[in-house]
Amino acid sequence: MIGFLRQITLLTAATTAFTMAEGYTQADRILDMQKMAQAMQDIQSGFFYNNVDIVKAGTKVLKDTIVNVRPIDAEVNNKDIYEKWLNNDLKMTRKIQKKIKNKATDIEERFSDGDAVQALQAYSKIAGQCMKCHVRLRKW
Ligand code: HEC
Repeated sequence: MIGFLRQITLLTAATTAFTMAEGYTQADRILDMQKMAQAMQDIQSGFFYNNVDIVKAGTKVLKDTIVNVRPIDAEVNNKDIYEKWLNNDLKMTRKIQKKIKNKATDIEERFSDGDAVQALQAYSKIAGQCMKCHVRLRKW
């Protein structure tokens, strides 16, 4: 009985892992992008209204969302042709994700310390990372 339950658990875990690896659609990514754009606006409002709670709500959404961003299924399934390109894409995406998370933490810390200038600098570095992907990877 224990063995049987264990098997069910493993099966469920495997199914979950599969579901997470698959199923990132263009619609999902657009939604993530819109969430991040809203988060950036919220952070900016927080700066102007001098409201650390609004700033932190924005950085939280940003940090939680940027980790989802990746090539969509249609791009992954094209890997024969785009393999090399995809590798670069993933490597660059991971770097950008790390930078955005770090800079979001900088914003929280600096703004909480009353250092609005440094917080704004971290903010513009994040905007730079967004544009880096849009311009360099996506040729926008
Ligand atoms: C790793 C690459 C990458 C990063 C990083 C990235 N984007 Fe995007 N962004 C995209 C892609 C790709 C699209 C096009 C969405 C699609 O059609 O799949 C997009 C589209 C958008 C859109 C348009 C969404 C719409 O409604 O059509 C907005 C707004 C946006 N991004 C905001 C941001 C913001 C803000 C950040 C940074 C916090 C960011 N992006 C970081 C790749 C990226």
